[in-house]
Amino acid sequence: MVRIRQMKGRGRLPCVTVTDAATARWAEEAGLPLLLVGDSLGMTILGYETTLPVTLEQMLHHTAAVVRGRRAALVVADMPFLTYQASPAEAVRNAGRFLQEAGADAVKIEGGRERAPTARALVEAGIPVMGHIGLLPQSVKTAGGYRVRGRTSAESAALLADARALEAAGVFSIVIEGVPPAVARRLTAAVGVPTIGIGAGPHCDGQVLVLHDLLGMAAEPPPRFARRYVDLRGHAVDALRSFRRDVEAGRFPGPEHWY
Ligand code: KIV
Repeated sequence: MVRIRQMKGRGRLPCVTVTDAATARWAEEAGLPLLLVGDSLGMTILGYETTLPVTLEQMLHHTAAVVRGRRAALVVADMPFLTYQASPAEAVRNAGRFLQEAGADAVKIEGGRERAPTARALVEAGIPVMGHIGLLPQSVKTAGGYRVRGRTSAESAALLADARALEAAGVFSIVIEGVPPAVARRLTAAVGVPTIGIGAGPHCDGQVLVLHDLLGMAAEPPPRFARRYVDLRGHAVDALRSFRRDVEAGRFPGPEHWY
């Protein structure tokens, strides 16, 4: 965490979501210092429409796999919906499982001022916390869908108060999702901990992308703010089609594959 905190104002911090030991190894090999086990895995690999159905047990399962695959990168686990909202005490018990059972280094929770007492309780219990403000996927039902936050001066002022409250509560970094670049710049300048943007323009201290968007693992095009660096799904389907054809035609296995 100290490593991440020290990155404030010293260049850009890249972060990617990972879901299992294999993708954690890929990200390590690529030199990524910060891995997020995001509850977006509910959509990217579990097939849900939102992150809301993702459970604590599912997140623990995936986080433990990621930890087995990483060597040096810091692993942050997303606390899923309803595992930290009911009370700070319940949040401490649930967050503790990510460190104790899954081996995570830190947890991430969504929310600003309303979640600052929870963030403080976690930090006081010895659990490093990453905050998350702006567009909050776990609040999609109450917040009017997945829309950009901070377009009005009232929303922008609220985000500033949220970022400051989280910093005062002791978080070591803050994800800023879905806000205009100028607002993200103001938030980044206002806090002493690194901000990590997603759909928040270029002025944050770091950038995070969902691995499945970055690698082109889904059929749908990635969101506008993301960049698809490779069409992994296309390559995978091509490879699988070749395998099917080879088996059907008797070309696989050839003598070179026999014992
Ligand atoms: O779950 C997730 O992937 C996230 C990122 C969008 C930051 O929280």
